[in-house]
Amino acid sequence: PIVKELFGLSDLEDEVRSAFGLKRVIIVPGDSDETEHVKLELGRAGSRVLRDSLSVGDVVAVMGGSTMAHMARHFAAASQFKDNWFVPARGGLGESVDYQANTIASQLAKRAGARYRMLHVPDHLSEEAYQTIMQEPNVREVVDMIRSARIVVHGIGDAATMARRRKLRDDTMDELVKDGALAEAFGYYFDRSGKVVHRMATAGLRLEDIEAAELVIGIAGGRSKGEAIASVMRFGHDDVLVTDEAAAREALRHI
Ligand code: F6P
Repeated sequence: PIVKELFGLSDLEDEVRSAFGLKRVIIVPGDSDETEHVKLELGRAGSRVLRDSLSVGDVVAVMGGSTMAHMARHFAAASQFKDNWFVPARGGLGESVDYQANTIASQLAKRAGARYRMLHVPDHLSEEAYQTIMQEPNVREVVDMIRSARIVVHGIGDAATMARRRKLRDDTMDELVKDGALAEAFGYYFDRSGKVVHRMATAGLRLEDIEAAELVIGIAGGRSKGEAIASVMRFGHDDVLVTDEAAAREALRHI
């Protein structure tokens, strides 16, 4: 707290909280774009928020990405969470193994001494394949669990960066640009006003499940993500934002 006062970050937290109508905002000093250490602190702060929010029996759905990976790595080892479940929020979204939601969910569960389930569903399913795979009892069971999550923890990305990272087809890229996609989170792409302009067909968390979740925690930092963060916050279903100083200041420029 003393450090935050010195840097004036608690004022900034209040400002971001009221600008986006959030319940809680945590800001770490610096810019994750410039220093890896800031991203690590961001992960650490995120893991603390999650830890403090967990109650017995909670199902937690987590997204992937490098920020979420830091969060999982810094979750302080524990033993009181043995009745908690960690599940991936979505199936594969074209991320490398280290950044996949399945990996994050299992790492978190191991750190927390909790349980986990995996969702082994490939990307880009046709409607027909989706219907068939959803009839598999194993898949159905995990999907139902994901959709019942009380807590959702997710990263936020800039739309163009994420589209490239997932190697989306050129025509899909063109469509995203045309639709004004600025941000990506939960496998959805959002425009400036926070409207969903594109979704990827994978099993897992749907928009209505995000709306129904009791606690949605977004973790993202770096000045380059400021505008994307503002657009996802405008979508309006996050309760808590964990970010860094540079992203917070940039997000406020886009309210
Ligand atoms: O692909 C998972 C995901 O959480 C995306 O929804 C998000 O845009 C991205 O990762 C964030 O990744 P990073 O933390 O590596 O920037």
